[in-house]
Amino acid sequence: MDKIFELEKLKQEIANDENLPLKTNLVFGEGNPDCEVLFIGEAPGAVEDQLVRPFVGRSGQLLRQCIRNLGWKEEDVYITNIVKRRPPENRDPLPEEIEAYKPYLTRQIEIINPKVIVPLGRFSMNYFLPHAKITRDQGKLFKEDDWFIAPMFHPAAALRAPNVMNEFQKNFKNLPAMLKKIEIEGEKIEKVEEIKKTEEPKQSLKLF
Ligand code: URA
Repeated sequence: MDKIFELEKLKQEIANDENLPLKTNLVFGEGNPDCEVLFIGEAPGAVEDQLVRPFVGRSGQLLRQCIRNLGWKEEDVYITNIVKRRPPENRDPLPEEIEAYKPYLTRQIEIINPKVIVPLGRFSMNYFLPHAKITRDQGKLFKEDDWFIAPMFHPAAALRAPNVMNEFQKNFKNLPAMLKKIEIEGEKIEKVEEIKKTEEPKQSLKLF
């Protein structure tokens, strides 16, 4: 079945699911369903809710600028969130909200079937890699199930701290090289990098 058709069907299912938490606008995601790179944030903010588009506020401008800086077009990637509606007062999504929207995100990923998934921030990263720590593991490449995962700091965190911004921009620039590595080594890559579950960072910073 056609990806656009399947995504539209999924969107309708979410819209019709009255059991889902949060009642603001449904911000499903946008971009090229045949993309190589899928960016996943946590949940829409006020501007996203208003415009019914993901990542169009301040942090979205940064994300989109970084995409363009690579010589890519925004329309060539796909951008979405775990939770598809805005939590009140821009609070973090609750575990039960993430759980409720999870099956829909899983299906969205399966339809798009990207080469690499870039979770932005810890909520999105922990959806794929529950034991990962954002300060320790952002910028690395993991293989989990059938997906290649390249977690990065959330752009909102980058806007708050210059050192996070440096890391965010550095890792963003590395995305084409990661794609090449996946293309060249592909199936040979078993676990790209193991997460050391026992190794805790000295200082646990809560950076999205
Ligand atoms: N932050 C997110 O995580 N997602 C958006 O769409 C906007 C801001």
